[in-house]
Amino acid sequence: MVCCRGKNSTFVIRKFIRMDYLSILQARINKMKNLRIVDILKTGQVGTQITVKGWVRTRRGSKNVNFIALNDGSTIHNLQVVAEVELFGEELLKLINTGAAIGVTGKLVESAGSGQSFELQASALEVIGVSDPEKYPIQPKRHSLEFLREMAHLRPRTATFSAIFRMRHAMIFAIHNFFNERGFYNVHTPIITSSDAEGAGEMFRVSTLPAKDAPVDEDGNVDYSQDFFGKAANLTVSGQLEGELFAMALSRIYTFGPTFRAENSNTSRHLAEFWMIEPEVAFFDLQDNMDLAEEFLKYLIRYALDHCMDDLVFLSGRLAEEEKNKPADQRSMELIEKLRFVADNDFVRLTYTEAIEILKNSKQNKKGKFQYPITGYGTDLQSEHERFLVEVEFKKPVILTNYPKEIKAFYMRMDDNGKTVSAMDVLFPQIGEIIGGSQREERLELLERRMDEMNIPKEDMQWYLDTRRFGGCPHAGFGLGFERLLLFVTGMTNIRDVIPFARTPKNCEF
Ligand code: 4AD
Ligand code: MG
Repeated sequence: MVCCRGKNSTFVIRKFIRMDYLSILQARINKMKNLRIVDILKTGQVGTQITVKGWVRTRRGSKNVNFIALNDGSTIHNLQVVAEVELFGEELLKLINTGAAIGVTGKLVESAGSGQSFELQASALEVIGVSDPEKYPIQPKRHSLEFLREMAHLRPRTATFSAIFRMRHAMIFAIHNFFNERGFYNVHTPIITSSDAEGAGEMFRVSTLPAKDAPVDEDGNVDYSQDFFGKAANLTVSGQLEGELFAMALSRIYTFGPTFRAENSNTSRHLAEFWMIEPEVAFFDLQDNMDLAEEFLKYLIRYALDHCMDDLVFLSGRLAEEEKNKPADQRSMELIEKLRFVADNDFVRLTYTEAIEILKNSKQNKKGKFQYPITGYGTDLQSEHERFLVEVEFKKPVILTNYPKEIKAFYMRMDDNGKTVSAMDVLFPQIGEIIGGSQREERLELLERRMDEMNIPKEDMQWYLDTRRFGGCPHAGFGLGFERLLLFVTGMTNIRDVIPFARTPKNCEF
């Protein structure tokens, strides 16, 4: 409690209380107004007093006045702060370097400069966190993406990466919206599992056994019965199998989780840790599955166009700048135009067998221009073939279906011909495969036969087979690689640039 006697001290305390009250009020107003730079630039009013906090992008100055470009990550645009040298002094202004965290209070005024409606005429400046300009790695100039990959802890502060990660958020939100609006339930499937959903053996082992002198069984193999889980465990390569169990109960489900693959693919489209969205729907066939996948991708692209235009305009400019160095015939379509094109046009649908015919007879193949020549039915498609179909042959996204059973996973439904399975891959320009999915084999006998043929241990997967024993039904689903979607919507070309911290072979920094 404040206790005071005498005229003067009462005045001091009144003044103190008044100021305190005012600052609380101001803080409340700030909170109410939610003063992020994005909101200030959109709905600010000239003449209002505001406080804003963020990081300095640049400061340039003359003798009388300094201009600070301030960004708080809420928008691609900076707020220009005008600081009079006389008011703040050289000493303080010298601390306001690129990368420093500052708070500014002042009045919003109409901007004299072009491109912005407002600027902030500073009346108070607070340096919250200094940044040594000699040492701060992110200079106000164009850095290479390779350099920024090594600075993954600081790159979100650049215009490019803040735009990418805002879009990443928007897409996460859109994905949940899409499924929620359509009555799908989100299921958290386990990250640690004891099964290999894809049967491809590209798993990261999860173990607490000592790396040196691990216990071995009679045959000299590591004895996982002594391990933490009492059996061999790994990080999941897909939530599909567990997703199927839930689709057999809740009808429409989707998973959205981290996925791990120990494939040694050092490409611009592969990560060892990536995020996958896997819807699974009871009573769906391949046709329904294709319709859902196409509707889903178009919804996400439209969402980006409707909600991320500022960032898209910036990223489109960035891409155009990068493409300038390429020969004209290798340049991709302008980013926003490309997104509109994909959202507004039907995808092409054809079977693997039809695609092979097109590829086999293509000039590319005949002139030996494919690194992996197409000899005929049975060849697994490489990304060069997928991109040929999408970018050269059809100039549209393509859904390829009914692949040979030999090159697809054990759970895919056998077609009547006994040769192909009801698989589908959605292929996108610049990316190749963005979605992989199928109708599932619901017939117990056929599924068990496939598992035997492909050496999938049935004993460990009785829980999976139970869904075929008790109330089994036709069902289908697919997996969308989240980072591949992001490559497409941001126009970035390396998958390491659309995930906050990339995990790739020989790279697990941060
Ligand atoms: O085609 P995939 O392997 O399919 C599955 O995992 C199925 N269980 C999905 C399902 O039917 N529920 O992977 C699906 C997608 C690919 O199309 C690709 O977009 C992405 O996941 N993907 C990767 N993304 C980044 N890095 C990797 N190493 C990826 N491997 C697959
Ligand atoms: Mg696939």
